[in-house]
Amino acid sequence: MNIPEIFKNLEYGPAPEGDEQAVAWLDSHGRKFGSFIDGTFTKPGKGFATINPANGKELAQITQSTKADLDRALKAARKATGPWQALSGFERAKYLYAIARQVQKHARLFAVLETMDNGKPIRESRDIDVPLVARHFYHHAGWAQHIEREFPDHQPYGVCGQVIPWNFPLLMMAWKIAPALAAGNTVVLKPAEFTSLTALLFAEICREIDLPPGVVNIVTGDGEVGAAIMDHPDIDKVAFTGSTGVGKAIRKATAGSGKGISLELGGKSPFIVFEDADIDSAVEGLVDAIWFNQGQVCCAGSRLLVQESIEKRFIKKLKARMAKLRIGDPLDKAIDIGALIAPIQVERVAELMKKGEQEGAIRYQPDGELPADGCFMKPTLFTNVSPANTIASEEVFGPVLVAMSFRTPDEAVSLANNSLYGLAASVWSENINLALDIAPRVKAGIVWINSTNQFDAACGFGGYKESGFGREGGKEGMAAYLRPTWETKLKALPASQKPVAPKLFETDGIDRTAKLYVGGKQSRPDGGYARAITGPDGKLIAEVGEGNRKDIRNAVEAARSALGWGNKTAHLRSQILYYMGENLDYRKAEFADRIRAMTGASVGAAKKEVDQTIERLFAFAGWADKYDGAVHNPPTRAMTVAMVEPIGVIGITAPDEAPLLGAISLLAPAIAMGNTAVLIPSEHSPLAMTDFYQILETSDLPGGVVNIVTGEKESLTNTLVEHDGVDAHFYVGDAAGGKRVEEMSIHNLKQTWTNKGKAIDWADKSVCEGEYFMARSTQVKNVWVPYGA
Ligand code: NAI
Repeated sequence: MNIPEIFKNLEYGPAPEGDEQAVAWLDSHGRKFGSFIDGTFTKPGKGFATINPANGKELAQITQSTKADLDRALKAARKATGPWQALSGFERAKYLYAIARQVQKHARLFAVLETMDNGKPIRESRDIDVPLVARHFYHHAGWAQHIEREFPDHQPYGVCGQVIPWNFPLLMMAWKIAPALAAGNTVVLKPAEFTSLTALLFAEICREIDLPPGVVNIVTGDGEVGAAIMDHPDIDKVAFTGSTGVGKAIRKATAGSGKGISLELGGKSPFIVFEDADIDSAVEGLVDAIWFNQGQVCCAGSRLLVQESIEKRFIKKLKARMAKLRIGDPLDKAIDIGALIAPIQVERVAELMKKGEQEGAIRYQPDGELPADGCFMKPTLFTNVSPANTIASEEVFGPVLVAMSFRTPDEAVSLANNSLYGLAASVWSENINLALDIAPRVKAGIVWINSTNQFDAACGFGGYKESGFGREGGKEGMAAYLRPTWETKLKALPASQKPVAPKLFETDGIDRTAKLYVGGKQSRPDGGYARAITGPDGKLIAEVGEGNRKDIRNAVEAARSALGWGNKTAHLRSQILYYMGENLDYRKAEFADRIRAMTGASVGAAKKEVDQTIERLFAFAGWADKYDGAVHNPPTRAMTVAMVEPIGVIGITAPDEAPLLGAISLLAPAIAMGNTAVLIPSEHSPLAMTDFYQILETSDLPGGVVNIVTGEKESLTNTLVEHDGVDAHFYVGDAAGGKRVEEMSIHNLKQTWTNKGKAIDWADKSVCEGEYFMARSTQVKNVWVPYGA
């Protein structure tokens, strides 16, 4: 085709990016790669081929790391922690800055290599992945320098084990390595087996800038190597991005180990278009939302929810746009859709599409031939889909969009939230009131208004529900690589004050048994049993109801129906906590007597515990309207509002020691932040908390915000942790109990906090009245709002 012809028919001509530099780099390594350990490349060992998915050709051989390799990498990482942490923040900043500069200097090589290894269009690797990688290292260079000021009394974990997926190989690596290094950790990172090359090129950069050996170690290999890293006893913190199934396996494998953990998992993100949206922009946004990186994006806008009144028009325009998308050689600069990662992924996606059709969904794909070789798939739209269909609920991780319609904003929100996942959402409307009404109601860690797939190092990224926990980017992302120093100094919890001696008996109907507290009312335990509570001398003080599974289920239901508490103003929540403190103050003598009777504490100690509890209620009343978010300033035409949101229903297994102060120290931050709670008081000394019902009843707290079920600690805890209606759990007890809570939490991937079998000093204000428990009670939602000219 000559130039006049091109102008006439406006067809694209081929515009391939040259691969000579990348080929030369591969050749310079003999197309065989070992791992990068302790600052050097190991001799290539047995392994597997890495393939260019666009043409099926082998690019290089990658080593399957052995246990010995891993041990060496961990040893090197451990050895490097001391000197790395001894550097000043400024010195660490200079290394991160140097990495960013080198990434920019080698940007073209990185982009081409990424596209060859992964199949993504060069336009994306060149204009999105690589620039974001550089931005991430620049941003975190700044954190390295300011960390001490911004995170006083915190310290790095030590050695971080990081496992990343194949969809954004270089970018996910940057998201993991930059904050870890800034905080003073060292890392052992495993790239995905399909895409190890850019991580190995990155290792060369680390060498070029003289990063101290052992600070960054890249071990290649498959999921077995990944599992060995996560399980390794010499890892202090694990970070994983990938499928929800593997994320759950990692949570289970690390339970009880005391390792820090952050998981960034799957998604099924809604793309919500209201009738007053700018339809052409929304169509263009949708193309980006679902066909970016062939749909292999954890936050892909894979569920189109379009208002019924514009549905036909919207779908027509969308189909017309789909027909214009160009599929082909990812190195071609004019290509929109490249290759999927591997034949197995094409099969997975095809299987899910088949299932969709069997379930009645109607498939649309534009006409035209796909390239003969390579893992190419057409952009696909399914209509006639119901929310229960497999393709509407499961993460497809391919170029497949499902479309559903809604009539009202409420229906849009309920469809959007009808998912096990909660990673991202995109909301399109020209009515700012409507968009800003919807954003807080969608259960997702990121909401883009009139935009999609915006990312920046200054803005946290991460999900709600089964999309995982922990954030990457922003201050909350930095927090995930640091721990408070006090946490590292805790001593083991002393054995319980009293042996478990539950004396269960059927109640005789006479009302001296403290009941349960559910939905704002005192209620008899379902099983009709009570438990004797005795003092240190063994004498009966009182009886409490023996809660069972049914009671826990009722309490969770009450807590769920009270979730509107999170929408009340922070001022109101603050007022109610003050009121609780005031009411407790009126009755402090009575509470002190109770504590003495149960625990045998001295008069002074019991009185002190009540006084400290009043002070704690006041402290969190004071925090309720102050622990808030931030507005970030990403380098795009947007502002990002980082909102601190409650997690939802929090289960609390309160400590035996300090039966009043301990319980309130966990409960007060939870409700101050807008959560509702189901609390299991100390099994041995529950009476201070059953007396507390009256404080709750006289403090204007709406029914259901706090529910209290007394009884056998571990079995009640198990029922709570297994319950899908509970979003997070705080547990204080022995190490085995904490481990069990973490293991059982994988069912719906609850966020958990446990004392890890350690003794917490509940009187310590620096620990228990600071931000720590509020951070455990909240999650950050980043709302991207178009802003400025
Ligand atoms: P995957 O989750 O198995 O792989 C991601 C990474 O985890 C790779 O580095 C892999 O080697 C490693 N890995 C695998 N098993 C492990 C284990 N037991 N312990 C530690 N690390 C382990 O994802 P896969 O199999 O490549 O893709 C399957 C599906 O997962 C995709 O179709 C997609 O639905 C989903 N996925 C989601 C991602 C996301 O970011 N949300 C990323 C990758 C995959």
